Amino acid sequence: MLYTEKVMEHFGNPRNVGVIEDPDGVGEVGNPVCGDVMKITLKVADDCISDIKFQTLGCGAAIATSSIVTEMAKGMTLSEAVMITKQQVADELGGLPPAKMHCSVLATDGLKVAIDDYLVKHGRAPIAGPITSTDPDFDPHEEEL
Ligand code: FES
Repeated sequence: MLYTEKVMEHFGNPRNVGVIEDPDGVGEVGNPVCGDVMKITLKVADDCISDIKFQTLGCGAAIATSSIVTEMAKGMTLSEAVMITKQQVADELGGLPPAKMHCSVLATDGLKVAIDDYLVKHGRAPIAGPITSTDPDFDPHEEEL
């Protein structure tokens, strides 16, 4: 399995690692098949993501996609950030091997859950829609077939 240079770079030197103290939103998701988990904490100012950090216990692709999604989302409005797709995350990394595409779902789902957590805590309607990795019908290995 070949990773791009950018995947390897984000895996070896991930950005925005850690947990924000007193976060405005928290997203915790897990991949039901491989057991990898991810937590995103974020700060919101004027409906924009002003700070974001992640902790991921998982494979190299899960760490690289978590890292890049925090870079992509920082500074975006909540409604822009919630639209980031797993394909955009993979493209930003120069591509992912097909067997690892499912790993990028963890990153986009963690972000979505954190955004909705912020909105709901502030009495607003959630905007993320269904969360793929917690869907009982989600098959994280379907791209491998
Ligand atoms: Fe579990 Fe990559 S193998 S997220």
